[in-house]
Amino acid sequence: MPFPAERPRRLRRTPALRRLCRETRLSVSSLVLPLFVREDIAAPVAIPSLPGHRQETVDSTGAAVEQALAAGVGAVLLFGVPTRKDAVGSEAWNSDGIVQSALRSLRGRFGDDCVLIADCCLDEYTDHGHCGVLREDGSVDNDATLPLYARAAVSQARAGADVVAPSGMMDGQVGAIRAALDAAGFAETSILAYSAKYASVMYGPFRDAADCAPRSGDRRGYQMDAGNSREAVREARLDVAEGADMVMVKPALTCLDVIGRVRAAVDVPLAAYSVSGEYAMIAHAARAGAFDERAAALEALAAIHRAGADIIISYHALQAARWLREE
Ligand code: PBG
Repeated sequence: MPFPAERPRRLRRTPALRRLCRETRLSVSSLVLPLFVREDIAAPVAIPSLPGHRQETVDSTGAAVEQALAAGVGAVLLFGVPTRKDAVGSEAWNSDGIVQSALRSLRGRFGDDCVLIADCCLDEYTDHGHCGVLREDGSVDNDATLPLYARAAVSQARAGADVVAPSGMMDGQVGAIRAALDAAGFAETSILAYSAKYASVMYGPFRDAADCAPRSGDRRGYQMDAGNSREAVREARLDVAEGADMVMVKPALTCLDVIGRVRAAVDVPLAAYSVSGEYAMIAHAARAGAFDERAAALEALAAIHRAGADIIISYHALQAARWLREE
């Protein structure tokens, strides 16, 4: 027998063979584009740590969504950047708040053509920057926070969100939101649970974009520790039991193993959030000449998809959708 008998390289010989034999394929409709909608600005404001991204007005959000839809992107994820912040984050459930205004405008303009996902948390809305209300000692009060998430979720559903995405990592948040949505007549509004959200340095640029860095302390008391992955499976199972329609692992590139584990443990669609710092690493390194941005971004997205993510939230979503269509 000639040596070697097994020749995997045969199937790598030409681009056409490689295309034919590819095990996983990312589709543009699996990509979700995050957008920041800011109150009280007359024109979009660039975000230097996230090159190519901006804080949008309600009008410019519409234009961004139009571009995303034209490129085939599957959904947008909206974050609000309000002008008024207070200790409890009350702008989060203001029916005329910035995210609610954007949701109404997008729903009116695009109907059901665009899946609208609303991040549901308090950190963009609280003056202290934490994801929940604080006790006297400065710690986050889990159970006092739940009804506030529920109010925010109902107000987002009323404004037109298809999906609400609780990202605060409070225990019981999915159950509290599900019960409130059902009671308010929004049984058909879905929940995408940020189930395994790690305390990560990778959220740095986002905190500039959404102006939500905690004024004191950090988020380690509610977000997950980098050393853990069994805990991620536990969190995902709890969220499914509480009524989550989809679950999420976040960040993505530093959690490929976690994506694989959660994929094997639950049957609902799994999203991975390739966060602001992941985008920034690629975008800034490419601008410094380290590598080609397109190749780096598509390699990262392929890895996240291969690990088991059905849906990928990425700041490269728009560009990647265009690149994938050219391939
Ligand atoms: C919290 C939230 C954060 C992100 C999404 N939702 C910030 C945080 O937990 O500090 C980060 C996303 C990113 O970095 O792209 N509402």
